[in-house]
Amino acid sequence: MSKPLNIGLIGYGFMGRAHSNGYRRVNNFFDLQYHPVLKAACARSRDMVKPFADKWGYESIETDWRKLLERKDIDAIDICVPNNLHAEIALAAARAGKMILCEKPLAMNGSEGLKMVEAVEKAKVPNMVWYNYRRVPAVTLAKKLIDDGRLGEIFHYRANFLQDWTISADLPQGGTALWRLDVQAAGSGVSGDLLAHCIDTAMWLNGGITNLNAMTETFIKERKHQLTGKVEKVGIDDACAFMCRFGNGSLGLFESTRYARGHKALYTFEINGEHASLKWDLHDLHRLEYFDHRDPGIVRGWRSIHVTDGDHPYMGNWWVPGLQIGYEHTFVHQVADFLDGLAKGTPAQPDFRNAHQTQLVLDAILDSAKSLKWVNVPKG
Ligand SMILES: NC(=O)c1ccc[n+]([C@@H]2O[C@H](COP(=O)([O-])OP(=O)(O)OC[C@H]3O[C@@H](n4cnc5c(N)ncnc54)[C@H](O)[C@@H]3O)[C@@H](O)[C@H]2O)c1
Repeated sequence: MSKPLNIGLIGYGFMGRAHSNGYRRVNNFFDLQYHPVLKAACARSRDMVKPFADKWGYESIETDWRKLLERKDIDAIDICVPNNLHAEIALAAARAGKMILCEKPLAMNGSEGLKMVEAVEKAKVPNMVWYNYRRVPAVTLAKKLIDDGRLGEIFHYRANFLQDWTISADLPQGGTALWRLDVQAAGSGVSGDLLAHCIDTAMWLNGGITNLNAMTETFIKERKHQLTGKVEKVGIDDACAFMCRFGNGSLGLFESTRYARGHKALYTFEINGEHASLKWDLHDLHRLEYFDHRDPGIVRGWRSIHVTDGDHPYMGNWWVPGLQIGYEHTFVHQVADFLDGLAKGTPAQPDFRNAHQTQLVLDAILDSAKSLKWVNVPKG
């Protein structure tokens, strides 16, 4: 018999849905010693959170997250709200002795993130940050190929995350659905929202980033604020590019923008090593492109690995070879890893401390873009 883990979820938006789906499906596909119970969903508006709770099968609702934290029947708090609320909720949840699953980026900046790390470590509560792209089977396979030494020494790491949804100058900033454009709610623009994913994956695959040089741009300088109704300065980065060095001596190039017309969510990376190279593309997420120079010359070339075999990461839990899975399954995998980590006493990664390193890189990016200088990334 598996043990219940009572979830209190805060925020019913995009991630509220993605996580709820993960909780609901995980035990149908993974054999685990725990099963999530959807105990309570929380958001400010009863009228909005009640239909959400009914749709996803939450047993109850709350309209104040503080009340949720007081409840004895909640084991784990899941933070799916805008970035400026992560720290306050996580610090209080740690004090209340709750496990915490927090959306990315961990915090608004490194110092805020450090307080969160210290709080969960002091309270000894299991914790995790939802950098879900690690759990795309093709990306997890890339990690295995690198760790097995197939690439040899790594020379280059390249990543992009391109979108095009904020090009219109008429788009307001702030409030429901548009908090990402408001620096007070988001902390930063594409760097914290999109590059954070690329940085987390990069450091997981290729190790720590030691120093970097970045540039950012805010193409639309002023936008109407949805909450105040006034035209206000835009404080986020609309686009960001940086070059960096990794601790292993390889060079990194990263770019993210919401102004790449034609791209909706083009997250790609490419890694070039001494013997082999890897490429991955979120638009074709079940494929990993692999080139191995050690293949005989007459058949040497890029192979497109369809990552759907039973011996590929996570795939033995799903369908039969050849049948692919998608974006939502990364959240199922992350829940499975969290529950498995609880049972085994080996915390699923990234935990708060691990995700804090990404926050330090993000701080260095904004520092460098401001100072126009190379910036060293401290080790958290
Ligand atoms: N892992 C990923 O791939 C991924 C993708 C998207 C978003 N995110 C992260 O998830 C978080 C939420 O983003 P989203 O896209 O789900 O946003 P969203 O705008 O879709 O949803 C935000 C939710 O927070 C609620 N909320 C706001 N203030 C609140 C408060 N004071 N108390 C309770 N609820 C409150 C809103 O009502 C809404 O339900 C952000 O930190 C974001 O960076 C991660």
